[in-house]
Amino acid sequence: MDKEKVFQDAKDWVLEAGEYIRDRINEPLHIETKSNPDDLVTQMDQDTEEFFAGKIKGTYPSHRVFGEEGFGDDVKDLEGVVWIVDPIDGTMNFVHQQKNFAISIGIYEDGVGEIGLIYNVMDDVLYTAVKGEGAQRNGEVLPELSKDRPLHRSIFSLNTTWLIEENRLVDSKGIADLVKTLRSTRSYGSAALEFAFVAEGLIDGYVTMSLMPWDVAAGKVILEEVGGIVTAGDGSRLDMVKRSSVCATRDNIHEEVIADYIRLK
Ligand code: IPD
Ligand code: CA
Ligand code: CA
Repeated sequence: MDKEKVFQDAKDWVLEAGEYIRDRINEPLHIETKSNPDDLVTQMDQDTEEFFAGKIKGTYPSHRVFGEEGFGDDVKDLEGVVWIVDPIDGTMNFVHQQKNFAISIGIYEDGVGEIGLIYNVMDDVLYTAVKGEGAQRNGEVLPELSKDRPLHRSIFSLNTTWLIEENRLVDSKGIADLVKTLRSTRSYGSAALEFAFVAEGLIDGYVTMSLMPWDVAAGKVILEEVGGIVTAGDGSRLDMVKRSSVCATRDNIHEEVIADYIRLK
């Protein structure tokens, strides 16, 4: 693909979609639920994904779209160029707070993450990365992440779900030990923003047991460009077409977190 052109188009469309959402942020929302009463989706999620699918297919007919709301293709592998789209990441924040949500787009070619964009819509902050060319925040280069800070001086983003004993996915005791070791934890409610905040150095890691590829695709590209490490919770390579656990941290603490704290069930 012509990376420069694709990147420019993706950036233009993300900013356009963001402006559309911002202009309508106070309009009444049409809210539905998906898998359970707390799994929300709005007309805005759907309209935004439809907008991207239309732009992508109209401009790049051979590219495929892998989107959360189903306006793209039935993607089972990452052959060729695939745009992995989360039109609104943090829908619960969108509904309850009208802020703290993001548009997230990762563009992969033959399975390799080449371009990542995460747009914090209400703050008008755009995180971008092109593989091999570094990452930026609103056009300013993001520096490489520190490799010195130890785990006990680190702040992680972590959802309290993983501390509940009955959870199906991880040994909650290991996660509780991690919380005790860390300096502190945060929960932002948007996986894409949590990746972006690790890349920006605001937090040192993000650990979660269940994300879909569109939650991760852009963040992985951006974080890896500043020297971060992104794997599944057992340290294995992420499968970008399946739901997975995720451990995304600065370089020097990644192995320790996997080896000493995350015990997948
Ligand atoms: C969700 C958010 C949330 C994460 C969930 C995701 P959505 O995405 O990223 O922070 O904990 O696992 O599903 O549904 O708002 O796009
Ligand atoms: Ca999401
Ligand atoms: Ca979403």
